[in-house]
Amino acid sequence: MKKLLSLCLSILMIVGLVSCGNKTGNAVTSNETAKKLIMCTNAEFPPYEYKDGGNFVGIDVEVSKLIGEKIGAEVEILDIAFDSLIPTVTSGKADFAMAGMTVTEDRKEFVDFTHTYQTAVQTVVVPSNSSIASIDDLNGKKIGVQQGTTGDIYCTGDYGDANVERFPKIVDGFQAMKSGRIDACVVDDEVAKNIVSQDASSYKILDTAYAEEEYAIAVKKGNTELLEKLNKAIDEIKTSGELKKIVDKYIK
Ligand code: ARG
Repeated sequence: MKKLLSLCLSILMIVGLVSCGNKTGNAVTSNETAKKLIMCTNAEFPPYEYKDGGNFVGIDVEVSKLIGEKIGAEVEILDIAFDSLIPTVTSGKADFAMAGMTVTEDRKEFVDFTHTYQTAVQTVVVPSNSSIASIDDLNGKKIGVQQGTTGDIYCTGDYGDANVERFPKIVDGFQAMKSGRIDACVVDDEVAKNIVSQDASSYKILDTAYAEEEYAIAVKKGNTELLEKLNKAIDEIKTSGELKKIVDKYIK
């Protein structure tokens, strides 16, 4: 009887061990041997992440691959809406979010951020014939932002919900501005420059900076194992100049 019991126990243990393995499609980080990391992003944000042909390209895409190499993991990209990034990390469907994401105190309540890897400035873009010349002129104007971004949060706070028009991607905001539906867009400086450069005669970028920020990678709260690996890799590519090399390729 005792033998039978211990046999049953060992079978149970084996079953338990096997079912602890990873189901495909789920993010893997809790074990040392993780070989694949899922990075969620929103590839509507040139030069940080965008699609070229069918491929994901941009600073974050290249930096994430390089970081993956450093920590011995293959990085797989999951392209989703910007305002779904944090929930996707907290639910564990992705291991980390990298999307030109600004570190904010509010976001820190939901995710942990790595060391920062880039700085950015929220910038105001207006149609080239606009009379808007400074941030104060934005009062009462219709401002386009990408939904859930810091541009959205700041503009909603400063100019009121009714004056903010939210788009799933900021290029749609630029189109709306071109057709006269809205008066301005607020977006990160390098993205503003990138989009304006495709259609330089239609827009101008105001000189006054709206807000300064820093980008970092977000991981699930408490995932210190991954956080530490990412931090180490970020520090390394900063010192080695590898980060700068990628940035310089995309930002002239
Ligand atoms: N830096 C801004 C933020 O964190 C905008 C980021 C938008 N990124 C993107 N991939 N669409 O809110």
